[in-house]
Amino acid sequence: MKIVKKILILLLIALVGIQFYRPAKNNAEYREVAAFEQETKPSKEVLTLLESKCYDCHSNKSTYPWYAEVAPISLWIGHHIEEGNEHFNVSKWETYSDKKKDHKLEELIEEVEEGEMPLKSYTLLHGNITDTEKQALLTWAQEARKTYKH
Ligand code: HEC
Repeated sequence: MKIVKKILILLLIALVGIQFYRPAKNNAEYREVAAFEQETKPSKEVLTLLESKCYDCHSNKSTYPWYAEVAPISLWIGHHIEEGNEHFNVSKWETYSDKKKDHKLEELIEEVEEGEMPLKSYTLLHGNITDTEKQALLTWAQEARKTYKH
């Protein structure tokens, strides 16, 4: 039992220690989405979905829940945001070529169709999108792709 107690104490110390490690936040002053939204023209319904289910990992400004302050959860969430933005960042939409924009929307359709987005770990606490909402996202993205076809 003595060894178990020692291990527990060591774990506790590690858990406290790791709190001092705070990953950089993805929190620009405001969410830069104007270019993306002007070009892809989401309906009100789709806009609400994007705001509540996608922009946290795919824009320059995330809304952090309280538990995101606690390590190691903060590191895990930080990693998802970083990786999500690396693949698809609506705040950098202007910097993408038309070909890339079209490709990203194509990826979006695939990911949403297959139920891969929003990320599972996210929907656990934020709720998933319904089939109707999924359909609305797909229709919008298909329509938006036409903008980039030449
Ligand atoms: C919790 C963070 C998180 C949320 C919320 C989230 N994503 Fe993602 N997304 C990621 C990560 C991480 C990746 C990269 C790894 C992967 O493809 O699974 C990704 C990848 C993508 C890609 C692929 C881009 C490419 O080039 O392959 C698209 C498109 C995408 N997400 C769209 C969405 C949409 C649309 C929503 C909302 C319905 C959404 N995501 C919600 C984290 C997230």
